[in-house]
Amino acid sequence: MQSHPDIERILFTEEEIHARVSELAAQISSAYANGVTLIGVLKGSVFFLADLARALKIHVRIDFLSVTPFLPAGEPGLVRIVKDLDSSIEGQDVLLVEDIVDTGLTLRYLLRALNERHPRSLQVCALLDRSVRRLADVPVLYRCFEIPDRFVVGYGLDYQQRYRHLPYLGILKSEVFRP
Ligand code: IMP
Repeated sequence: MQSHPDIERILFTEEEIHARVSELAAQISSAYANGVTLIGVLKGSVFFLADLARALKIHVRIDFLSVTPFLPAGEPGLVRIVKDLDSSIEGQDVLLVEDIVDTGLTLRYLLRALNERHPRSLQVCALLDRSVRRLADVPVLYRCFEIPDRFVVGYGLDYQQRYRHLPYLGILKSEVFRP
């Protein structure tokens, strides 16, 4: 496949992503026979959530929230919700849908915040898991792919708001990515 000139190499093709999302959806459909509430963390999880939801064979509710880091002086991993859910999740079986779990600090904050709203259950479904960089011990029950310690873009993931639209997941060239 012809990739974007800023991409060093493709990690997962569109076909590989599709196949893995279908597998995960089958697993989730059997685990949540009574339906599930998917909560997408904007914006990185949008493409993943849209594909996952369409592959589910159960009743599905969808809601979104958005977080932003506390900058510049706060502790690393301190985030706050800037767009909250539209509806209550009390008594519902909730799956938090993330693009990537890296340090796990964002997820730890979100799990605490959402648990205070008394869902019946709360689990995590992540497109990517980069567990080598984990700082917070967070439970990721469903994951599509484990990835190496490189910055990844595409299929929703961005670098400076670019590359989200790429249909595959790829490693950004180091001359483009300046951490
Ligand atoms: P964490 O709090 O360190 O787990 O970071 C989670 C957030 O950082 C993710 O939801 C992404 O928005 C962003 N992020 C971390 N690694 C990458 C990457 O490789 N590509 C794009 N975004 C990333």
